Amino acid sequence: MTKVLFVCLGNICRSPMAECVFNTVLERNNAETLCKVDSAGILSYHQGEQPDRRMREMAKSRGYTLIHESRPVKTQDFFDFDIIIGMDESNIEDLKDRAPSVEAMGKIHRISEFFSPGAPFDHIPDPYYGGTEGFNTTVNLLEDACENLYEWIAKGNK
Ligand code: 4NP
Repeated sequence: MTKVLFVCLGNICRSPMAECVFNTVLERNNAETLCKVDSAGILSYHQGEQPDRRMREMAKSRGYTLIHESRPVKTQDFFDFDIIIGMDESNIEDLKDRAPSVEAMGKIHRISEFFSPGAPFDHIPDPYYGGTEGFNTTVNLLEDACENLYEWIAKGNK
């Protein structure tokens, strides 16, 4: 079983949505046993909170039920997970700073590695301080990335 951890800044918008979309892809492919999925934040500021209301509403309008309790990334995550995926360059830099070993550093991936060619961004823009469109873009980018991530893992990569 491949263990996948999605990481963003607050763990209330992008990474819990990533966890939800990826779990949905696994279910659709009858592949729930292929991966264990979780998400976490660089910040501990929102620890214990449900996802942002705007992200939950966008999720619902796109057919998802978004449930997660925000938690910060911890050192043990670098031992417990096989693939740790950051949503933007700042997340990647923060994850690198926290990686306890060179081996752990090798588990860090950019979400953009799984974007299809021609994707409109090279990261997932932080939707927190913007309007509704940012939350819509987050779901669009994640649906594409999670499909490609699933195929990559199903081929035996980690
Ligand atoms: P996320 O969005 O990283 O996608 O969960 C954010 C949530 C909270 C904050 C920043 C980004 N914040 O600064 O509190």
